[in-house]
Order: sequence, then C-alpha cells, then structure tokens
Amino acid sequence: MDRKTLHKISYGLYVVCSKNNGKYNGQIANAVFQVTAEPPTIAISINKQNLTHEYISKSKVFTMSILSVEAPMTFIGKFGFKSGRDIDKFADTKYKLGKTKVPIVKDYSIGCIEGIVIDKVDVGTHTVFIANIEDAMLY
Ligand SMILES: Cc1cc2nc3c(=O)[nH]c(=O)nc-3n(C[C@H](O)[C@H](O)[C@H](O)COP(=O)(O)O)c2cc1C
Repeated sequence: MDRKTLHKISYGLYVVCSKNNGKYNGQIANAVFQVTAEPPTIAISINKQNLTHEYISKSKVFTMSILSVEAPMTFIGKFGFKSGRDIDKFADTKYKLGKTKVPIVKDYSIGCIEGIVIDKVDVGTHTVFIANIEDAMLY
C-alpha cells in the first residue's frame, strides 16, 4: 500500500472545543466531515489520549471553529501540538460561549458549528463522535 495516496485526501482545519465541570479545552482537528444533510449531522475523529476527548465524552457537546487560511503556525501550535493538561489554551484566546456554553474560538476563524453528540464509534486509537448540528454561523 502506498500511504502517500492518503495525503491526497482533502481536509479543512478546525478548532474543536468542549467543556467539563466549568473548564474549557480545545484542539486542532482536520478529521471532520458532514455526514447527513437532513437532519444536519457532522462527525469528528478524536484521539482517545487528548484532553478534548475526555471533555467531549463527558459533556457530549462540542464546537468547531472553521479556521481561515491565514491562521499562523503559532496559533496552530498552541491548539495542535500542546495539551490542555499542560497549558491553559484560553488564557490568550478570543472566544465566546455558544448555545451549549462551550467556547467558540474567534481567533483566525471564519465561522463555527456547534454539535450535540448523538452517537460514537470506537475506531481503536480514536473515537468518531457523531453529532446533530445545534447551531452554525459564518462571520
Ligand atoms: C494539522 C493538525 C491536524 C490534527 N488533526 C487531528 C484530528 O483530526 N484528530 C485528533 O484527535 N487530533 C488531531 N490533531 C492533534 C491534536 O490537535 C493534538 O493532539 C492536541 O495537542 C490535543 O490537545 P488536547 O490534549 O488539549 O486535547 C491534529 C494536529 C494538527 C497540527
């Protein structure tokens, strides 16, 4: 198998956030896709080792900020190469709370989708969370 073929699959880049007991966390994810149009449903694939995985598993809600192509590596590094177990990613991040009281990251973002988990699939290292779209907006 030529694994380079898989690099030809197209992705966007998103900050997926969730909450747990009044605490917030978020991470970069590219494994995000719309599953059905009616009702509007999305799926995200999240590594079981991530703090964000723990938060989504417990709260069953998440937001997904759609990143602009202008998002710099410093920003992607904060959410994509560091864990909320070691740093507070929201200390210097602009955000607002969505309908489900989960933070929606505003920095370098062109829009947002908010989801309520209705199902999940164990895929080994990751869990695929499937969610009804509770809200969606473009800025
Ligand atoms: C470009 C990029 C894409 C990523 N895509 C995913 C993804 O789809 N799913 C995932 O679980 N982690 C993905 N990650 C890794 C997480 O963002 C990373 O492990 C993060 O530090 C987890 O943070 P947390 O422990 O605070 O939740 C990606 C990272 C980068 C840089």
